[in-house]
Amino acid sequence: TTAQKLSFDVQLSDHARTSAEREQVLASPGFGQVFTDHMISIDYTEGRGWHDARLMPYGPLSLDPATSVFHYAQELFEGLKAYRQGGGAIASFRPYANAARFNVSAARMAMPELPEEAFVESLELLVQTDREWVPTTEGHSLYLRPFMIATQPALGVNYPSKTYKYMVIASPAAAYFGGGKAVSVWLSTEYTRAAPGGTGFAKCGGNYAAAFVAQRQAVEQGCDQVVWLDAHEHRYVEEMGGMNLFFVFGDRLLTPALTGTLLPGITRDSILTLAGDLGLKAEEGRISIEEWQEGCESGELTEVFACGTAAVVTPVGAVKGADRAWAVGDGTQGEVTRRIREELTGIQYGTRPDPHGWVHKL
Ligand code: PLP
Ligand code: COI
Repeated sequence: TTAQKLSFDVQLSDHARTSAEREQVLASPGFGQVFTDHMISIDYTEGRGWHDARLMPYGPLSLDPATSVFHYAQELFEGLKAYRQGGGAIASFRPYANAARFNVSAARMAMPELPEEAFVESLELLVQTDREWVPTTEGHSLYLRPFMIATQPALGVNYPSKTYKYMVIASPAAAYFGGGKAVSVWLSTEYTRAAPGGTGFAKCGGNYAAAFVAQRQAVEQGCDQVVWLDAHEHRYVEEMGGMNLFFVFGDRLLTPALTGTLLPGITRDSILTLAGDLGLKAEEGRISIEEWQEGCESGELTEVFACGTAAVVTPVGAVKGADRAWAVGDGTQGEVTRRIREELTGIQYGTRPDPHGWVHKL
């Protein structure tokens, strides 16, 4: 990509919600249901590069029904949050890591890379414009959703699209899972999320489209979330539907290694570092569902937690599969999980020091 400097055209909304309307939403934001007053749009044309960078009123798009994204799902997205810190400051967490992952996903999907500076600048502009939408309630945040779609209206599949649109929308968010309660998980042995050579490491919409059937099965089985296993044997743990997993053996943490079939979570990466700061050992490796069950039954495996931008750090309390079910610890949040969550959120909300320089003021 060229290091072209984009200048954003700014068009403010004539229909921005009143502060009373906004406060009503912020009182109980849920997750991803209500969006702020503005959005970002930048277009890309092969041979010309990125152009027409705009901040504009939030609203619908008009696209030709033949537009490539509708047919072949050439799409990718990111997810990160803006946090309200003390004194009214607003911060994001490692946005350049999201920018880098956006471009890794783009390369896999044969889509153009966006300069990291343009990615971060687009977040800054949207959050500055809609800063009143960043919740002040503890534990709430403004979820930012950058994404890119293929916009060429053509049905051939000989070449990827020649035109694209990058956008950012924002939505106030409460806890993804209601308030620190442990979740139950369903081991998906029928379906596979990702196989070697596929798109598991990319944050593309297709991965999620193919996952809904398994997530629905998890709910039918009385569980909150699906756990994905390796494609060959359906035996080794990979990740959950929208978060990574950590296994706690006393003071040792284990998370599945990045084999190419799971998403390299930025929360996961941060926890690998934070664990050392907290005097815990952390390693990447492999764990089978048998080891998970036996570890819980012997008491050696003391805690399991999920982590991600939306889910933050969430304890896993119970596991169910087609032919087995067991509890993790006493089924509630453990001490290590609590310490990790408090350290991470302390950095994000600015109540603890940021020794790794992860906080980026918006
Ligand atoms: N795994 C999947 C499939 C996800 O959708 C997410 C959410 O972004 C994660 C893991 C966690 O990634 P991060 O910590 O960067 O949010
Ligand atoms: C995120 O945490 O940003 C995610 O992408 C999870 C999600 C798919 C809701």
